[in-house]
Amino acid sequence: SERCVVAVDGPSGSGKSTVSRRLASRLGGVYLDTGAMYRSITWAVLRSGVDPQDADAVAKVAAETELEIGTDPLAPHFRADGMDVDAEIRGPEVTAHVSAVAAVPAVRKQLVDQQRAIIAAAGHIVVEGRDIGSVVAPDATLKVYLTASAAARAQRRSAEVAADVDATAADLARRDQLDSTRAASPLKQAGDAVELDTTGMSIDEVVTALHDLLKTRV
Ligand code: C5P
Repeated sequence: SERCVVAVDGPSGSGKSTVSRRLASRLGGVYLDTGAMYRSITWAVLRSGVDPQDADAVAKVAAETELEIGTDPLAPHFRADGMDVDAEIRGPEVTAHVSAVAAVPAVRKQLVDQQRAIIAAAGHIVVEGRDIGSVVAPDATLKVYLTASAAARAQRRSAEVAADVDATAADLARRDQLDSTRAASPLKQAGDAVELDTTGMSIDEVVTALHDLLKTRV
């Protein structure tokens, strides 16, 4: 068919980003990294000197921040208020505060509205996050929930960011706890999502598995 929406959810380090980008390329579609949207707002919050725990102040910064959201799967560049934020949104400061910012309901509403507008305007699109199948795109063509063992996730993420594996494991556990217990749209597997444990699978194997699943849906 002329358009398909693939929702890819799961905890940090499950391989969502790499797999989602490759799948989007293979489909000739676009890619939306919703985590990068929450990270960009967090960057703006920190830059403005606002306390990330102050929900009202955080919501105000979010409303005033102009995001440019790159959806090219080969080069998904982001800008916030005209500034290139690709490197900084992956850094330890943003990572330490993003779960608090993402727990603010007004921030979620604003970003979910933007995500839905991007999805509505796209042809084929792969969207990755925590609440895509459950909240953002409940009518997605295919919903997948990627998991991996805690050890595999820490190994992958520490290699990506060139950090110590034990420190990374602790950070992932902390963020998963915050993300899955918050009141607003917690990380949760959609009832109709296909769960795929990627422990021990190569990226290509995961992409091919998802592509095969998608063929059964269209
Ligand atoms: O996927 P990534 O690690 O970049 O996401 C960063 C953070 O953004 C997550 O830990 C979570 O707090 C938040 N997030 C979210 N909902 C999404 C995507 C990300 O709450 N759809």
